[in-house]
Amino acid sequence: MIKVKKLFKTFGSQTVLHGVDFEIKPGEILVIVGESGSGKSVLLQHMIGLLRPDSGSVVIADQDISRLSEQKLLKVRKDMGYLFQGGALYDFMTVFENVAFPLREHTRMKRNAVMTKVQDILKLVGLDAAEGKFPSQLSGGMQKRAALARAVIMDSRILFCDEPTSGLDPIKSRSIMDLIHTIARKLKCTTVIASHDIVNSLRIADRIVLIRQGTIVAQGTPDQLRSSQDAYLQEFFN
Ligand SMILES: Nc1ncnc2c1ncn2[C@@H]1O[C@H](COP(=O)(O)OP(=O)(O)O)[C@@H](O)[C@H]1O
Ligand SMILES: [Mg+2]
Repeated sequence: MIKVKKLFKTFGSQTVLHGVDFEIKPGEILVIVGESGSGKSVLLQHMIGLLRPDSGSVVIADQDISRLSEQKLLKVRKDMGYLFQGGALYDFMTVFENVAFPLREHTRMKRNAVMTKVQDILKLVGLDAAEGKFPSQLSGGMQKRAALARAVIMDSRILFCDEPTSGLDPIKSRSIMDLIHTIARKLKCTTVIASHDIVNSLRIADRIVLIRQGTIVAQGTPDQLRSSQDAYLQEFFN
């Protein structure tokens, strides 16, 4: 589904990605974990075509997106949903309008169909009672739920999440990660999450890749990584 091949990226004198190599299978939930500054967000930005690599490639459904024109990239991106740090909801729109926005912008769905679809997804994320509220009236956890609903409203085949638990307390962190898991399974989307939240990543991931200073130093199932004898992995996962 997604292949990241020998990805290199340097900003000025700082090489942030040192030949990153890994694959994601269709329908898989893959979590990229690593210390702050290890290159997780930069890697995600390459996977959605916001940054272009110095060398290497990102192949999604047989297309090398690192070399596509902006126009073709826009088409590929329509099949991707993103939940980014900050949530980025529109302050001047209600929860309902925020979630409906991509449908109104990119489809010709009828009013009633939009309403049904948005209400269904809001129910799924537990926000059906909050559809008329504005983002400023929501808690941090509810804002993330609304952003998640908007990220998946287009039935994208791939969902990208960057630090979905940032700014949330442990209980809300657990609950948003569980919700991502539930939604990914229900909608059968391939899901890529960058997170420093090890505990929850180990709980919901099918596979984890560990990035350190711009290189993947380990990958495997949560059980495989937890039971590794490697000192850095032990410190990281236990
Ligand atoms: N657009 C950019 N220009 C220059 N340096 C950047 C840029 N984006 C990220 N960096 C640097 O790349 C490194 C990795 O950043 P990032 O991918 O955000 O780490 P994290 O793993 O915490 O998400 C950091 O040292 C950061 O300062
Ligand atoms: Mg980051």
